[in-house]
Amino acid sequence: MDTYVTGPVIRKLREAQHMTQAELAEKIGVSSKTVSKWETAKGLPDISLLQQLAQALGISVIELMNGQHITNQNISANMLRCKFYVCPICGNVIHCTGSTLISCCGITLPPLEAEEADDDHAISIENVEDEHFITVHHPMTKQHFISFIAFVTSDRLQIVKFYPEGNPQTRLQLRGMGYLCYYCNRHGLFRKKI
Ligand SMILES: [Fe+2]
Repeated sequence: MDTYVTGPVIRKLREAQHMTQAELAEKIGVSSKTVSKWETAKGLPDISLLQQLAQALGISVIELMNGQHITNQNISANMLRCKFYVCPICGNVIHCTGSTLISCCGITLPPLEAEEADDDHAISIENVEDEHFITVHHPMTKQHFISFIAFVTSDRLQIVKFYPEGNPQTRLQLRGMGYLCYYCNRHGLFRKKI
């Protein structure tokens, strides 16, 4: 856990809900003096209260902990605007269709920014029957490897996971306009427009 709810966040969210300290206190079964202490940094809510506190403030626990209220702007759910998150500790790959806060292994993950493929992360695509044979020209050692490749179009996501000492090759149907995105554990996310 790298962040915890703070007094200013509680105050801001309470005021946004037009609640007094006493009203918030009543909702979560504490005294108004306790809420006042939290808001003035003279104490912190016990972890067992976070779920109720978040509910009373109309926010999720993870948003409460990070002090940010997430409004999802991607209403059309255009997959091309989707985001990938990768945990640097366990390698977990997470894909989201809109804005969110993601925590894994106790840390908050930033959405990955893709850069255009470079010479050290080159990709080749060959037509094979009605599919495409894709190769990422990159080492696959335990220390430096490609962990996944994904083909993203406006309405579809195909993702293939790779592992160290394997081959960063796969067959995919590249239908429609989109991006091939692939992730190097050392150099980050790359993409190539298709
Ligand atoms: Fe790399």
